[in-house]
Amino acid sequence: MIDKISVSIRDVTKIFVSRTGETKALAETSLHVREGEFVSLLGPSGCGKSTLLRLLASLDRPSTGEVELTLNNAGRSPVSVVFQDYSIFPWKTVLGNVAFGLRLAGKKRPEAERIAREHIVRMNLAGFENAYPGQLSGGMKQRVSLARALALDPDLLLLDEPFAALDPQMRQILQEDLLRQWENGDVRTAISVTHDLDEAILLGDRVALMSARPGRIKRIFDVPFGRPRSPDIRYSQKFSEIRQEIWASLRDEVRPAGPDAAPIKHSEPI
Ligand SMILES: Nc1ncnc2c1ncn2[C@@H]1O[C@H](COP(=O)(O)OP(=O)(O)OP(=O)(O)O)[C@@H](O)[C@H]1O
Ligand SMILES: [Mg+2]
Repeated sequence: MIDKISVSIRDVTKIFVSRTGETKALAETSLHVREGEFVSLLGPSGCGKSTLLRLLASLDRPSTGEVELTLNNAGRSPVSVVFQDYSIFPWKTVLGNVAFGLRLAGKKRPEAERIAREHIVRMNLAGFENAYPGQLSGGMKQRVSLARALALDPDLLLLDEPFAALDPQMRQILQEDLLRQWENGDVRTAISVTHDLDEAILLGDRVALMSARPGRIKRIFDVPFGRPRSPDIRYSQKFSEIRQEIWASLRDEVRPAGPDAAPIKHSEPI
C-alpha cells in the first residue's frame, strides 16, 4: 500500500528581501511527510527551519515552489502550531487559554471547556485550571501551549523548538509526555523542529537533516524504533548508533567553514 502523503514541500525556496539586501533562507528544498508520521527537523542555527515551518503554517509564502497540505480535516482543526516561547495569553487562565482555540473553532463554551479540561489533565496540569500563566513555571506554561494545540485535535501539528526554553530535566519530561500523547493518537501528522538530537530520535519516525543556510533537506534518517516506544530507548545501543550517524552528518553543517576554522573536538549536540 502506498502511504498517503499529508505534507508535500516541492522545490521550495525562500528569499527575504530587505533594504540592506537579500537573504536566501531556503534553497530548493523538498520533503514529503506521510499521514500519521512524526518528522523531526534538525539543522544548524539559521538554516531556515522556522522559515519552513512558517510556510507550512501559512504564516508566509514561498518565493518559488509549492507547499501542499492534504489534510483529512474531518471535524478537526487543520493545523496547530506550538512555538518555543509559550505563546499563551497572560490575561487568560489555564482553562481559558486551552479553551480559546476551541472557541475560535466554533465550539460552544461548555464543550470547549470540557475538552480543555480533559487535555489539562492529560498534560498533568490538573488543579491549575484557574491559575494564570504568571503563576506557572516555564515547564507548566509550555504544557499549557501543548494542551491548547492538542485539544484542537489537529490534522497537522507543527512544533518549533517547543522545549528549548526549558531546563534539561523538564525538557526530558515534556518530551516523554508528548511521546505518550502522540501515541495515544490525538494528532495525525507532526513536524517538529529541534536542536536536540535525542529529542529528534525519541519522537520522530524520521529525522530530516537540513544543511547550513541556504537550507535544504540534506538527508533523511529512518528512526529504527516502532511504536509505541518507551522513553528508555534512549539508553539502547541502537539509539546511540543512529545518534552517532546523524551527528556525523550534522557536524559537517555546524562546523565553521573555511581552512582556518578550528576543528570541533567534542561530539556535542548543537
Ligand atoms: N522575516 C525575515 N526577514 C529577513 N530575514 C529573515 C526573516 N526570517 C528569517 N530570516 C533569515 O532567514 C534565515 C533563516 O532563518 P530561520 O529563522 O528560518 O532559521 P532557523 O533554522 O529557524 O534558525 P534557529 O535554529 O536559530 O531558530 C536567517 O538567516 C534569518 O536571518
Ligand atoms: Mg528557528
